[in-house]
Amino acid sequence: MSRKAVVTGGFSYIGGAIAAELAARGWDVSTLTNRKPPPGSMIASSPLTFDRDALVSALTGADLFVNTFWIRFPFGGQTFDTAVARSALLAEAAKAAGVGRFVHLSVSNPDRGLNLGYYAGKHRVEETLRASGLSCAIVRPTLVVGSNDVLTNNIAWFLRNFPVFPMPRGGRCRLQPVTLADTARIAADAAARSEDETVDAAGPDTVTFREYVELLASLCGVRRWMPGVPNWASLLGIKLVEPFLDDVTLTREELLGLEQELLISHAPPLGKESALGWLEKNGADLGKRYINDLDRHFRSERTQPVTV
Ligand SMILES: NC(=O)c1ccc[n+]([C@@H]2O[C@H](COP(=O)([O-])OP(=O)(O)OC[C@H]3O[C@@H](n4cnc5c(N)ncnc54)[C@H](OP(=O)(O)O)[C@@H]3O)[C@@H](O)[C@H]2O)c1
Repeated sequence: MSRKAVVTGGFSYIGGAIAAELAARGWDVSTLTNRKPPPGSMIASSPLTFDRDALVSALTGADLFVNTFWIRFPFGGQTFDTAVARSALLAEAAKAAGVGRFVHLSVSNPDRGLNLGYYAGKHRVEETLRASGLSCAIVRPTLVVGSNDVLTNNIAWFLRNFPVFPMPRGGRCRLQPVTLADTARIAADAAARSEDETVDAAGPDTVTFREYVELLASLCGVRRWMPGVPNWASLLGIKLVEPFLDDVTLTREELLGLEQELLISHAPPLGKESALGWLEKNGADLGKRYINDLDRHFRSERTQPVTV
């Protein structure tokens, strides 16, 4: 009999890739999500609600729970504090339901970014999980590159549509992207083990942000002026465009995380595939369409309104 796995966000970005990887390894996968299934999806889904009894019932009988739930930025009454509380509730429900293994998607270097709400919240959730008594693997991705990614796609959209790309702090900060496929493999490998562990999901290449953006510009077939500017000027440029996009494209915290080089790993990389190579092979259509994150997470693309 196949083992049962429940994954949050099975129709979303990283959750979708992990669900597919687990299914390919023989797991019987279902998902908790508030997103409509994509055409042809074979994965059973039920709504992700933050009601303890509903969660315990959804997780009862699962051998594995993979949690990808998080918010990129506070919005609509949701804050990093509510995301921490909801993550703790997911862990508590998994424990009460007797789930055998909990794989949690965190972020690289949460303990080095305690001045930033996103990273401090991730750090608090990690501490909660370590104290939970669950058999737990914490997977910490850097920047995940793959199909349907938002951040890299929207950088490419800006490159396609504007003659200038103000480069925060000259683009000197480094990042170590990992492919979506490697991230899913690293999470599925962690699911198969039983010891408590914390692993980074980072790829083999480290590049500066300028090198990364220049690669994207070349994939888009554009040459852009990329003057080095202070963070505030880069953010101001984006904030002037955001009202027309009706979205939150980039946050101050994300820029600070880049500046603090939180998107690099300090361990030997578990990612095998070059994210830059993946982009060179698959990135020609990047940025042809802007992906609106508010629509994805708070508005039209949801089957249920998000409530706090
Ligand atoms: N993408 C990256 O480069 C990256 C890098 C480092 C760490 N991570 C971490 O990896 C995990 C997965 O990331 P991802 O890029 O796959 O994120 P995602 O596509 O935004 O989905 C993450 C999950 O959170 C849920 N979610 C997001 N915003 C929500 C909201 N406002 N209200 C209710 N549910 C919400 C999604 O629900 P639905 O299924 O209903 O959409 C989904 O289950 C997150 O913990 C993220 O912090 C991502």
